[in-house]
Amino acid sequence: MTLKNLLALVVLIGVVGASYVEAYENSESNPYTRDGLYLGYYRSKCPQVEYIVRRVTYQYVSANPTLAAALLRMHFHDCFVRGCDGSILITSPNKDAERDAPPNLSLKGFEVVNAVKSAIESECPGVVSCADVLALVARDAVLVIRGPWWPVPLGRRDGRISNISEANLPSPFSNVDTLKKNFSDKGLNTKDLVVLSGAHTIGVSSCALINRRIYNFTGKGDFDPAMDPNYVNILKERCPPTDFTTSVDMDPTSADKFDSHYFDTVYQNKGLFISDSTLLNDWETRLYIKTQVFTQGYYFNRDFSESMVKLGSVQILTGNQGEIRSRCDLVN
Ligand code: HEM
Repeated sequence: MTLKNLLALVVLIGVVGASYVEAYENSESNPYTRDGLYLGYYRSKCPQVEYIVRRVTYQYVSANPTLAAALLRMHFHDCFVRGCDGSILITSPNKDAERDAPPNLSLKGFEVVNAVKSAIESECPGVVSCADVLALVARDAVLVIRGPWWPVPLGRRDGRISNISEANLPSPFSNVDTLKKNFSDKGLNTKDLVVLSGAHTIGVSSCALINRRIYNFTGKGDFDPAMDPNYVNILKERCPPTDFTTSVDMDPTSADKFDSHYFDTVYQNKGLFISDSTLLNDWETRLYIKTQVFTQGYYFNRDFSESMVKLGSVQILTGNQGEIRSRCDLVN
C-alpha cells in the first residue's frame, strides 16, 4: 500500500469513527438507549463525569460502608416521587420538601451527592444533572460494597418541584396487592417488585417500624402470625417495648453483604416488614423467592441490574424539561 493510500485509509477510519461516536451520542438508536436516556450522554460535554463520581463515591463509602444502603434507598425514593428528577435532594427552609416527609427523615448520604456534584461542577459547570449524579452515585456506592453493577443511561434533567405532600412512598405495612399497584403505577412489574425488594439484603431499619408487628399486631398484645415466633423473640430482645430508636438489620446475619440472602430470610418468615413477608402471598413473587432460595441467587445480580435500569428511567425529565441545577440542594 502506498503512503497516499495509507493516509486516505486513516482519514476514512477517522471520519467513520467520528460519525459513529456522534451517532452513538445523539441517536435514539443507540443500543443502550432507554426512554431518551443513553450511555455516553456526557461523552463530549463532560467526559470525566463517571470517573469523578466513582472517585468521590469511593472515598465516602469506603470510609463508611453503611452509606451504600442509604444511597441506594435515596435513588429509589427519588424515582418514586415525580420520577428520577433529583427532587429528593432539594432542601426547603420551611421544611416542606420531599426530604422532610416521614419516610425520608432517615435517609442519609446527601453530603456524598453534594460533594460529587461540586467536584463535577468545578470541571464542567452547568452540564450534569443532579438526577444523573444520584443515579450514578447509587450504582457506584453498591459497587464499593461489592454488590452488582448496572449500566446507568444518562440524560435526566432536574425537577424544580419538591413537595412534602407528594412523598407517598410504598409503605412497609402494605400487602402485596398494594405494592404491586404502587410499582405498576411507576411502570414496574411484579418481577421488578420482588427483585428490587432484594435491596433489603443490605441496611437497617429501626425498632419503631416493627414495634406493632412484634408487640401488638391486632391490638391484643400479639405478634404477626406471619413471622417466625423464634425470630419475634430475637427482635423483642433487640427492641424492648418502648424502644423506638435502636437499629435492626433488614437481613439478619448478612446485612452488610449484597447477596441473595434476603430471599432466604423472607422464605424463613423472617422478613422484617409486612411488605417483605407479604411477598410470599402472591404466586409470582413467591415463585421468584423460592427460585432464589433453591438456586442460591443464581440470577439475582443480573435481575437486579435489569430492574435498576428500569427504576432509573421512571418518569424522567429529558430535552428541555426541568433544568440542570448548579447545586443539588437548591433549584436554580
Ligand atoms: C417494596 C417496597 C418497599 C418498602 C415498603 C420499603 C420500605 C423500607 C423501609 C421502611 C426501610 C427502613 C427505613 C427506616 O428504618 O428508616 C427501608 C430500608 C431500605 N430500603 Fe426499602 N422499601 C421498599 C423497596 C425498596 C427498594 C425498591 C429499594 C432499592 C432498590 C430499597 C432499598 C432500601 C435500602 C437499601 C434500605 C436500608 C437503608 C439504610 O440502611 O440506610 N427499598 N425500606
